[in-house]
Amino acid sequence: MFLTKEEEKLLERGDGVSKCMEILVALGEIFGAERLIPIKHAHISGVSYQNIGDEGLEWLKNLNVNFAVKTTINPAGMDLERWSEMGIDESFAKKQIELLNVFKEMGAELTLTCTPYYIQKPSIGEHLAWAESSAVIYANSVLGARTNRESGISALASAVIGKTPYYGLHIKENRAPNILVKVECDCDPAILGYKMGSEIEGIPIFKFNRMLSDDELKALGASLASTGNIAMFHVVEQTPEWNHFDIPREKVSVDKADLKFECNPDLIALGCPHMSKSEILDVYRIVEKMGGKVKTEFWVFTSRYVYDSMKDVVNRLEKRGIKVFKDTCMVVSPATERFECVMTNSGKALTYLPKLRGVTVMYGSLEECVKKAFE
Ligand code: F3S
Repeated sequence: MFLTKEEEKLLERGDGVSKCMEILVALGEIFGAERLIPIKHAHISGVSYQNIGDEGLEWLKNLNVNFAVKTTINPAGMDLERWSEMGIDESFAKKQIELLNVFKEMGAELTLTCTPYYIQKPSIGEHLAWAESSAVIYANSVLGARTNRESGISALASAVIGKTPYYGLHIKENRAPNILVKVECDCDPAILGYKMGSEIEGIPIFKFNRMLSDDELKALGASLASTGNIAMFHVVEQTPEWNHFDIPREKVSVDKADLKFECNPDLIALGCPHMSKSEILDVYRIVEKMGGKVKTEFWVFTSRYVYDSMKDVVNRLEKRGIKVFKDTCMVVSPATERFECVMTNSGKALTYLPKLRGVTVMYGSLEECVKKAFE
């Protein structure tokens, strides 16, 4: 990979910056990148203390670097204010806060959300280095920004250097679809993505018989990225680059997508990815039609940004017994482990909750989940 004189100097410093350069150079060489390109924004995942542990915390502290570009971070293992209510113990909370302080000292914005695009939307063609598969697929597909599916470490290295290797989805030709998926049912996008993620590879282009909302595109992408290694999709007549390429000859048709998960939920959890304002309003509208308080533990996850901008609605939901948490989520927080069966509307949560939190799962649409909580 070609390096400028300045980039070569960074490699020779023998400090944390050099380590970050080494990571980017190794990545670039593996994927055949010809050079590094500047990025506008890095997003780092894997910031739960449970994920990083003491060794990772020490490694980060010793790295002794600062971020060169706007850097945001994914959800942590707890709500920074309501951790005790979530059932998180004090020793975990202390370590989590210590870890977040290390990120803050490096210059990260403590956004603690997997939906950084609600806080600041990247523009079309903007180069990013984002980890967090659901955010990557949303940025590429719905926003037309450009990022590969980074790991937490490579996103951190890019945040420090302000650059990323130029390969994969940063290059226009590599963003072409390779398979057309004709959707002939009015399938739930989260379930459709869950199913198709494991059946197709590359970059699908979907043809639906109706327009999908941004929330539906988010759910479709998060599911596709969780059951498959997919980092981008197009939707005919809808996503920004759908007509930049030829429609592929290879095609599949889908006439149904359903899921058979059954258990008796002791937790209903929404907000994977973190809820948008419109999704919270959807929950609120259904709650308003139901009488009294919820009868099953009901958690909603969103970003601090969305939470702060809808305090009135949040307070009304809380009065009905729904807990609206921020800074964390059902998958990255160990708090979910004390439950047995989690009902959710998220294909990504269906994929990861059993693996990471050891719970069984059940699927319901947003409306079904809310109604179930009042039964
Ligand atoms: Fe976000 Fe957690 Fe789901 S990070 S996409 S809410 S697993």
